[in-house]
Amino acid sequence: MNNDYVHGYSERESARLADQANCLNELLHHDSIFPEHSIVLEAGCGVGAQTKIVAPKNPDSKFISIDISEESLQKAKSLTESLCIRNVEFQVGDILKMNFPDEYFDHILVCFVLEHLPKPMDALKSLKRVLKKGGTMTLIEGDHGSAYFYPRSDAAQEAIRCQVELQKSQGGNAHIGRELYPLLVNAGFSRCAVSPRMVYVDSSKPDLVEGFTRNTFTAMIEGVREKAISGSLIDEATFDKGIQDLYRTSESDGVFCYTFFKGVGYK
Ligand SMILES: C[S@@+](CC[C@H](N)C(=O)[O-])C[C@H]1O[C@@H](n2cnc3c(N)ncnc32)[C@H](O)[C@@H]1O
Repeated sequence: MNNDYVHGYSERESARLADQANCLNELLHHDSIFPEHSIVLEAGCGVGAQTKIVAPKNPDSKFISIDISEESLQKAKSLTESLCIRNVEFQVGDILKMNFPDEYFDHILVCFVLEHLPKPMDALKSLKRVLKKGGTMTLIEGDHGSAYFYPRSDAAQEAIRCQVELQKSQGGNAHIGRELYPLLVNAGFSRCAVSPRMVYVDSSKPDLVEGFTRNTFTAMIEGVREKAISGSLIDEATFDKGIQDLYRTSESDGVFCYTFFKGVGYK
């Protein structure tokens, strides 16, 4: 599996991440509020899908948003400039090898990044070094084991399994949401608290049907079709039925549920 899907570099993946961020804005970030005048590190900002939501919510704080991909940072920069967001500085950087001094940041935000890292604990330890004592580490991740829907479909669950396995073969973990609490505790954070954020979608919520069920979740699973089939993880007919069944959950009597997890710990 190449990195285009996993790290959000392809056009389609960029659009998917933007859709995801738009419809999940309130659910994930209504409480992404930092004390005034904080210096906040956003680690793995990608194309700025979260930056554009969180930075304007904290106009008196300064964000330093880093990513390993220069291309994504350029997009993030254009996006925030087009929105006249001025409290963000973008920097190329690797979470595992940061040049910032110890205890430089008041707070740290990491969204949809740990799920892609082979050693999330190493990332947390590296981030903890640059966090001030008393500062918070906020982690947001999904968990594909939390996807359930009406009508039920074994083929859809099989298609989801392919995405989980492909992510695993890249060293990632699509079930990391349930591990945020142990990760925070084992990294030595205190007062750790995780809140599940369930997205419940039926046709009474057309924006979520479009923005989440179809354009975020199903598009993501559909995106692994070729790799799943060429890697013999599934046969073509079952995969295609799985995708068809996922789209079926977006019809007038369909239902789709998925849970994200937001964890906060104090250094
Ligand atoms: C799925 S994207 C999420 C982007 C953004 N946080 C969002 O929620 O839209 C994961 C991002 O993590 C970045 N990333 C992965 N490993 C990294 C590392 N070691 N250091 C910095 N960024 C990294 C990728 O380049 C990618 O932009």
